[in-house]
Amino acid sequence: SFEQSLRPQTLKQYIGQEQVKGNLEIFIKAAKLREETLDHVLLYGPPGLGKTTLAVIIANEMNVNIRTTSGPAIERPGDLAAILTALEPGDVLFIDEIHRLSRSIEEVLYPAMEDFCLDIVIGKGPTARSVRLDLPPFTLVGATTRAGALSAPFRDRFGVLGRLEYYKEEELKNIVKRTAELFETEIDDESAAEIARRSRGTPRIANRLLRRVRDFAQVKGDGEICLALAKEALELLQVDSMGLDHIDHKLLKGMIEKFRGGPVGLDTIAASIGEEAETIEDVYEPYLLQIGFLQRTPRGRIVTPKVYQHFGMEIPGV
Ligand code: ADE
Repeated sequence: SFEQSLRPQTLKQYIGQEQVKGNLEIFIKAAKLREETLDHVLLYGPPGLGKTTLAVIIANEMNVNIRTTSGPAIERPGDLAAILTALEPGDVLFIDEIHRLSRSIEEVLYPAMEDFCLDIVIGKGPTARSVRLDLPPFTLVGATTRAGALSAPFRDRFGVLGRLEYYKEEELKNIVKRTAELFETEIDDESAAEIARRSRGTPRIANRLLRRVRDFAQVKGDGEICLALAKEALELLQVDSMGLDHIDHKLLKGMIEKFRGGPVGLDTIAASIGEEAETIEDVYEPYLLQIGFLQRTPRGRIVTPKVYQHFGMEIPGV
């Protein structure tokens, strides 16, 4: 589909993540030279940075098919067995949100990852017996927002670890320009930079903002994106100069107004603003930590003076 073709299909087309990309390039080349299956890959980092895109690229570069599933979708060992036995030699099996696999499924995966075999139990009670099935060799690509949530033995079974980082502004600007070109939308450098600055280091956000700015340009202008128009659209979208949205504001202002800036525990903040603790921890907090708006202390989270400055508030105790 067009949506899928917006995504880069090769490592060469993929902008940013130079470290992960450089490593993958070598490991993929080596595996191809040896005519072997690529070792299992664990991709981890905040949402929206391109883990799924990289999994698709890995399969493309290895000239194999990709089968996609997710941790929560695999409920019983039989679900996993069905997927594994349907693989073709060399295929990529992509498991998104792999930290949400249950321990019993993890245990089915261990022999599959290590020896490409599946131990299945046939029957129940005293007549139950175990049968070992051979599987085709495959590459497991796992993606997670929290590598720390995987058990150590599971993590250790991945030969390649790729930690995705927030993108630099320049990289995001180039992603915005690339996507605009695919949309056949004219955009100047300053507008692309403005969208990049407000995208929290995250291509998924950059491309979403670009879509909305493009809608705005189409209806309010002549379809071309210029800086004044981009800024007006971004104001309407309630994305501030740092890219912070309504929920970031609620979180930070809640911490200041209800907890004097902290320290306050994650669950307490979450309950006080009516958001899920897990969403705050996986989606909102990592970027706020990265830009130095939040800090973690042993007694809980605190907001930093930068937050007061950003909101034009007086810094307490100064
Ligand atoms: N679109 C989304 N993420 C991208 C990336 N990293 N490179 C190129 N285009 C993208």
